[in-house]
Amino acid sequence: MNTKLIKIDRKKINMEDISKAGELLKNGELVAFPTETVYGLGGDALNKNSAKAIYAAKGRPSDNPLIVHIHEVSSLEKIAKNIDDKVKKVINAFWPGPLTIVVEKRDIVPYETTGGLDTVAVRMPMDKVALNLIEKGGGFVAAPSANASGRPSPTMASHVYEDLQGKIPLILDGGQVEIGLESTILDMTTEIPTILRPGFYTREDIIKVIGTCHVDKGLVDSSVTPKAPGMKYRHYAPKAPLTIVSGDNNKIVEYINSKCGSKGIAVICSRENKNKYNDKLIVKEIGSRNNPKSIAYNLYKVLRDLDDVDEIYSEAFFGDDIEKAIMNRLLKAASQNIIKL
Ligand code: TXA
Ligand code: MG
Repeated sequence: MNTKLIKIDRKKINMEDISKAGELLKNGELVAFPTETVYGLGGDALNKNSAKAIYAAKGRPSDNPLIVHIHEVSSLEKIAKNIDDKVKKVINAFWPGPLTIVVEKRDIVPYETTGGLDTVAVRMPMDKVALNLIEKGGGFVAAPSANASGRPSPTMASHVYEDLQGKIPLILDGGQVEIGLESTILDMTTEIPTILRPGFYTREDIIKVIGTCHVDKGLVDSSVTPKAPGMKYRHYAPKAPLTIVSGDNNKIVEYINSKCGSKGIAVICSRENKNKYNDKLIVKEIGSRNNPKSIAYNLYKVLRDLDDVDEIYSEAFFGDDIEKAIMNRLLKAASQNIIKL
């Protein structure tokens, strides 16, 4: 199959292009498209064959459910039931945007989309290209991140092309995405809503809106299986082994510098430390510690850029904002391999 790339001018979206892409979705075909978090691989969420095609294109296990994307709040009740006040408050505060809710599904949503679960994950993104495509594609677009299973999520159309070229008919190229990390997933089927995947919105942001919020034990205790099926897989992995180094800043720099004997050793570092590393290392600046959102923005691109090195060391990034999501993804990329100095 020939994979076509169409550039979308965000200042003046060509609706003809979007309509054609929407037609593909309605015909059961797949289209990759930008959202504010990462690129998604879209298919008709209400068509079980589209869901199967998504799993096949990504090489993803079919017990790992998909997120259904909608373009208006009123679509939610068509695919979900028991929408209570708490859910309404959360939607009011965070939609459109990088927050996915897990709610009870209606029969119209096939089990192929939900990986056999009676719940469905739903998100209304804020990216204009995404919203227009969802509308033209029938209103319910199942979309996992548009990477091959196990690879870092795509933040640029070229990443999608790299992974899915020849497997899907169309990629809408809307440039580099704004956030760079997948949405926060909030399970609203439990008495106290629970974060299943950390993201741009934090536990504190959610507590401000509904007063309480738990974090899935599986995210903090590696002996507990995470509730979001996708969180149990090794993910976001670069091809080279990755080690995260934490502790006193000077010790981190000293330790990583001590590794620079052979060729092909890379370090992922903050802007603040960039000039402290030995120039025999491949030094990749990921962003500034004073602006953790810049680190999220660059994370997946940096991991892909380092595909051809032999070994990668990364500084650890701790903090109360988006750093929790950054460390969650980095630790997965490193298969939990972290050194504490
Ligand atoms: O930002 C995002 O959420 C991106 C963009 C494209 O919207 N999508 C995304 O999808 O990250 P994906 O498929 O890569 O990750 C979806 C995660 C998986 O970990 C999956 O197991 C979990 O959501 N999930 C989906 N439905 C669920 C459900 N009913 N219950 C629990 N977890 C669910
Ligand atoms: Mg993914």
